[in-house]
Amino acid sequence: MMEIVAAADSDERGLSLLRVVNILQRVVVFLHSFTVDKTRGQPPTSTSASKAQQMPGMSEEEVAKKVKEICQELILSQESLKEVCDRLQEEINKGLGKESNPEATIKCFPTYVRELPNGKEKGRFLALDLGGTNFRVLLIELGDKCTMESRIYAVPQPIMIGPGEGLFDHIADCLACFIKERSLGTELLPLGFTFSFPCKQEGLTKARLARWTKGFKCEGVEGRDVVELLKKAIAKRGDVKIKICAVLNDTTGTLMSCAWKNHNCRVGLIVGTGTNACYMEKIEKVELWDGDLEEPHQVIINTEWGAFGDNGCLDFIRTEYDNTIDRESLNPGKQLFEKMISGMYMGEVARQVIVRLVSEGLLFDGKTSDILQEKGSFFTKYISEIESDEDGDYNNCYAILEELGLNNATDADCANVRHVCECVSRRAAYLAGAGVALLLNRINEESVSVAVDGSVYRFHPHFHNLMVEQVSQLVKPGIKFDLMLSEDGSGRGAALVAAVASRSSATR
Ligand code: GLC
Repeated sequence: MMEIVAAADSDERGLSLLRVVNILQRVVVFLHSFTVDKTRGQPPTSTSASKAQQMPGMSEEEVAKKVKEICQELILSQESLKEVCDRLQEEINKGLGKESNPEATIKCFPTYVRELPNGKEKGRFLALDLGGTNFRVLLIELGDKCTMESRIYAVPQPIMIGPGEGLFDHIADCLACFIKERSLGTELLPLGFTFSFPCKQEGLTKARLARWTKGFKCEGVEGRDVVELLKKAIAKRGDVKIKICAVLNDTTGTLMSCAWKNHNCRVGLIVGTGTNACYMEKIEKVELWDGDLEEPHQVIINTEWGAFGDNGCLDFIRTEYDNTIDRESLNPGKQLFEKMISGMYMGEVARQVIVRLVSEGLLFDGKTSDILQEKGSFFTKYISEIESDEDGDYNNCYAILEELGLNNATDADCANVRHVCECVSRRAAYLAGAGVALLLNRINEESVSVAVDGSVYRFHPHFHNLMVEQVSQLVKPGIKFDLMLSEDGSGRGAALVAAVASRSSATR
């Protein structure tokens, strides 16, 4: 079991984890530069340098113009974004329709969460949070305030793509360790399981994995109830007693966490390793609904919009870069919207454009480096860092290019690299914004808050503003909205779903 960080405070958790991951990534790149690029400090010997020289006779302005032309296909017109919005509407309708759902790409899973918190929830809860390369166990105390203790464990790559049993054994191991360390063994604490993958829920504690996303591919889990698999792994150990009260997606947790204090919140959005959104829908619009028809006549829908476009309906805006990323991914043909937006892929889109520009002699004098040629070497966080440089200043950009073994960059190169990053992040923010506008139009209430979380939204310096700009373009006149960073949905949200569930069952 790999433990990454000691107990972290809730609010700082996201930030400190990212910082640790950032540092680790930098260390890896640094070490890498010794093993791979043994010529560090000398002009990079390039694989493509011989065939690609800077276009002779081109001025810096001409190069910049050519770079802009090549990046043009990443820039979406307002008509295209409006079209994206309309197609999303169609796909969500298909997802909610009883007959159309089996063929629909956006599955619109009802979550069985129908009530929002009222701010008075109380109690101690455990939460498990699995949705990326890290796994967290949390102890949450809800009261007037919410306090949290959490521990983060890595999910090693072999476990991410190994047998399902190994994954659930690992989760049970971490949970047991957390409980023992805190001597919580005697209390039967309610537990919320945030499992951030597409699941067909059959109740609040039953969720069948539809398919893996975000780099996971554990055999024997698709089609199975993940709560059952977790219970089995825990029972096998025999040393931990827990009561699983709810299984939820991170978008639901994010919405609930924000709704705890903000009663206008109706949408939960994640733009992190993956992207997805959930929203509160009227039961009468959910033909799929097979639960009771008692009050409240609403349910949170986990759209799983990452799969938007899997039927080809976004081909009109996809580029050669998107095609390559998809082809080389663990899940070709799947999660095509996600692959244009989320942190798992944004850096790679940028890298591909940069590699093309180098090969056309438009960057770094036509000289590449071994690291730049490697898939995945341009981390998404580089985009945030490069765009955090002040206008006309390229400190972060130079440092990153150096990490990539590109030591001969000029200011003009940095300006062009920055332009690539801006095109990639703007496209992502506008697409996510178009999606949010559509959900707000569906909800059609006067004033709605959108709870947002995820590393891209948190750390990109302009993502929030770009999204607001785009939502404003497409939202119906008269609807007021705001996008709010929602603190720790996967933890506090899980506790709230568990708390609201016990309140509802007590009153029914
Ligand atoms: C992926 C998952 C989805 C999750 C999202 C954000 O799209 O399929 O369930 O909500 O990533 O983590």
